Amino acid sequence: MALQKDKMELLLIAQSARMLAQSAARGGFRVIAIDFHADSDTCRHTEKCIAVAPGVEGFDEVALLAAAGQFAPQHGQSALIYGSGIDTRPGLVERLAQGRKLLGNQPASLNIIYNPPSFFTLLTQLGIPYPETRFTPPDQTKGWLVKPSCSEGGMGVGWCAKNQQPSRDAYYQRFVRGEVYSLLFLANGKENRSIGFNTQWTATHNPAQPFLFAGAINRTDLSEAQCLAVGEYAAKITAATGLVGLNSLDFVLADGVTLVLETNPRPSATVALYDEDYAEGLLAWHIAACLGELPPTTRNTGPVRALRIVFCPSNFTIPVGFQWPDGCADIPNPGAMMEAGQPLCSVLVKDKNRQEAETLVKSLENEILNGLHSLKTLNVGAASAAQGE
Ligand SMILES: Nc1ncnc2c1ncn2[C@@H]1O[C@H](COP(=O)(O)OP(=O)(O)O)[C@@H](O)[C@H]1O
Ligand SMILES: [Mg+2]
Repeated sequence: MALQKDKMELLLIAQSARMLAQSAARGGFRVIAIDFHADSDTCRHTEKCIAVAPGVEGFDEVALLAAAGQFAPQHGQSALIYGSGIDTRPGLVERLAQGRKLLGNQPASLNIIYNPPSFFTLLTQLGIPYPETRFTPPDQTKGWLVKPSCSEGGMGVGWCAKNQQPSRDAYYQRFVRGEVYSLLFLANGKENRSIGFNTQWTATHNPAQPFLFAGAINRTDLSEAQCLAVGEYAAKITAATGLVGLNSLDFVLADGVTLVLETNPRPSATVALYDEDYAEGLLAWHIAACLGELPPTTRNTGPVRALRIVFCPSNFTIPVGFQWPDGCADIPNPGAMMEAGQPLCSVLVKDKNRQEAETLVKSLENEILNGLHSLKTLNVGAASAAQGE
């Protein structure tokens, strides 16, 4: 891989740019990051890290374009790489890419992927199986899901209600019982290379959001033939939509058949499960792939890694001086107000063995929650004592 890093400055934009920034730092790139929080561990990996507070529907376009214009002016050296929260908005990608080199999927590719009728019609044409899907609410709603066209992290996916009102921005899909997986891959617009297959986890804390992404592990129970089939799906989708860089494909295994759920046309959270396995990190390969170069085919024989999102059990403020255990990332700044059900931080562990990695990631989650709980109790006690209660 021959990248002219000294001539390149990366403008990273995502809801959370931490993982992209960490990978870019591993590759030795100069980085400006814009995200919702400018957490301390994002700032640590960047030259400049800017927070643009989210509006009701994610990034406020005017504020984001202004921040990008101020810190990474158009027609300068900045190349744009976007992550979650941007890919679902092809118009915004187009405006951000004006006067900047775009290292990521073009708006035309996003327009196919985030338009469910176009995407599922394409899957049919390519002979790729997917769960039964329709664009008007079914008469018998039992066993059907309603899915917004631009959902991310399972946030908008829910059960179809009895009197479900039709919506222009949603589609309806039959729930398929089975394990859910993802394939992380690199593409150069024509071909692709698998990086690894992952088993996905769903959060259980909020019945109103039964399909929320809670993490993943870079191991699966898939057979060789099933992996080959999914690799083929990714190759066909790449060739048909011109995907470039890091992408992922979510799928469910039912009765031995792998059914595609969606394509995430940007670096997904599972990049964290492999980044360390690449000397210059995977973002360097994302850039190389966007410029046409793919790595040699590899088999994922690296260490087991598991990523887990820790959610807030209640409303509280992050105390000053809390010792976050090793392996924590996306750490909120002290004093940040957290809401019940919101992501608190993420935890990444590495182990030789799948079972131990799963146990370790859960015990780290418990350590964080118990630690914060006891501190919170101490703080409450101290406040009451000070008030003479
Ligand atoms: N048809 C389905 N059958 C079973 N589970 C599904 C189905 N569609 C979605 N899910 C569950 O919801 C999660 C999120 O769905 P997905 O299509 O990947 O949307 P998002 O873009 O929000 O990630 C999946 O990872 C899976 O757990
Ligand atoms: Mg998904």
